[in-house]
Amino acid sequence: MRFPIRIRVPASSANLGSGFDTLGLALSLYNFFDVLEVLPSGRYEVEVIGEGSGELETDIKNQIVQSYEKACGTWGINPLGLRIRSSNAIPLARGLGSSSTAIVGGVMIANLVRDVPLSKEELLPMMVDIEGHPDNVVPCCLGGMVVSCLENSDLRYVKLPRLPSDMVAVVAVPDFKVSTEEARNALPREVPLEDAVFNISRAALLSASWATGKFDNLPWGMSDRIHQPFRSRLFPGGEALLDQVSRIPECSGVAISGSGPSIIAFASGSGSTVAKYMCSVFSKHGLRSRFFVLDEDYQGATLEALSRSTTRR
Ligand code: HSE
Repeated sequence: MRFPIRIRVPASSANLGSGFDTLGLALSLYNFFDVLEVLPSGRYEVEVIGEGSGELETDIKNQIVQSYEKACGTWGINPLGLRIRSSNAIPLARGLGSSSTAIVGGVMIANLVRDVPLSKEELLPMMVDIEGHPDNVVPCCLGGMVVSCLENSDLRYVKLPRLPSDMVAVVAVPDFKVSTEEARNALPREVPLEDAVFNISRAALLSASWATGKFDNLPWGMSDRIHQPFRSRLFPGGEALLDQVSRIPECSGVAISGSGPSIIAFASGSGSTVAKYMCSVFSKHGLRSRFFVLDEDYQGATLEALSRSTTRR
């Protein structure tokens, strides 16, 4: 393995409304994991800069390291100790796939220790196995909007064509955290048949429309009855946002991003009207928020060499 190296991993927005645990979109907001030097086996030093600084683990308990060790263990490779710098722009526990970046990054680092490295596609089953569901890690690794289907450990996926360049994804991120566990626990165990049909038809419409460029179908395709009605109550303003943002003329579809509480909306043009509106609704419900106007990331996780001068402590 040649160090130092940098892995750039994008944020992702899972579900997109109707496609619960199935659809996910990579976004142009990134965490950077720099692997700076090899340390004695079993020793890990992780410096966290930006999002998660002072919060994320900095030793063997860090999720990048855990994923790295899990992959090495599965492949029967002795893991090298590492010094890693994690420079994070993706907010934690907001439904933007921050933990998926750590999993994708950790497995990609482990791949560098292999005698014969695997392709990103070949690494996906390991990443999905660690995460438990595919809709964040697959777009995070491959980029783009991806339809994923998991049966036990068997994974099928299709990466869809690009979002048109005149459309942006506006993401409003409130100053409020919801854990994926809490958001999953809020869901009923059973779904009425008519709600299942509602979601199947919308998820199919969304995927087919994205694949064929019929983006005017997004508002329909992103509607959902199986998770958002329950999750939008977990944070102030959730129900109001889903209801009101969809009525702004510039908005082409709105959903809770992943398990929330961020909200993602598609818009044509600059997205500023939608962004300001979303933050004003959070504000009316007593929450500070910030927004990102993002493009689709179509590259997924990337690996590049770094110059030696970047390794200083
Ligand atoms: N599909 C997952 C969920 C994404 O909605 O619970 C969150 O990681």
